[in-house]
Amino acid sequence: MEDNIKFNVITHMKKEIKKGKIIISKDGPYFVSGNLPLEKETIITDEERLPCEWKKGKKYPEQETYALCRCGKSKNMPYCDGTHVTCGFKGTETADRRKYFEQVDSKTEGPELDLTDVESLCARARFCERKGSAWNLTENSDDPLAKKTAIEQACNCPSGRLVALDKETKKAYEPEFEESLSLVEDPEMGVSGPIWVKGRVQIKSSDGHSYEKRNRVTLCRCGQSGNKPFCDGSHIESGFDDGDETLK
Ligand code: FES
Repeated sequence: MEDNIKFNVITHMKKEIKKGKIIISKDGPYFVSGNLPLEKETIITDEERLPCEWKKGKKYPEQETYALCRCGKSKNMPYCDGTHVTCGFKGTETADRRKYFEQVDSKTEGPELDLTDVESLCARARFCERKGSAWNLTENSDDPLAKKTAIEQACNCPSGRLVALDKETKKAYEPEFEESLSLVEDPEMGVSGPIWVKGRVQIKSSDGHSYEKRNRVTLCRCGQSGNKPFCDGSHIESGFDDGDETLK
């Protein structure tokens, strides 16, 4: 499975053709525009019950614009049905607005790789836990298999909490993503997860701030994150369930 993961060093060429956008409404949904593809994506676990790969699922019909629920209470998931008004949802955005590399709170240095970490962005997808952890693998990155696995684990981190960097060039390894959105499902934990925003989609706050465009970020859709608009893993404690069949 791991052999199938493609990654490459970020190029700046692709930025020019981006067109999707997400505008966050105050105490309401995410307004998505630009015909962004939307599908389900499920965390698959190994024999030790640790996440090892992603599996794509249902694709939603193409739409130029749509509104995705942010309060976690819609009866028409994943779309907003107006329940955020009646449930009194407060969607105040409290996340750090600095760029990722200005927020880095730890950097693990290895012989061939470095691994940067912004823990507050953790969506608890847990891909970093296998094979002794992404941090230990980075420290042993003079071993080709350890290096490859560390890169794969960082690239599988949906929130972009972890970024693997080439030791010499300092460039980030990133998966090749088109602009798209995935609704995360986590059957091992019995919960639905965040919206995985891929491919440097522009995200604007409810007060007009443009968040840094990143290849991987996760937006809260259970309504419970303490780091809105980003996911902080609270969907696990709150038992968020969007009705996906993999959770039955
Ligand atoms: S944000 Fe509108 S129903 Fe959840």
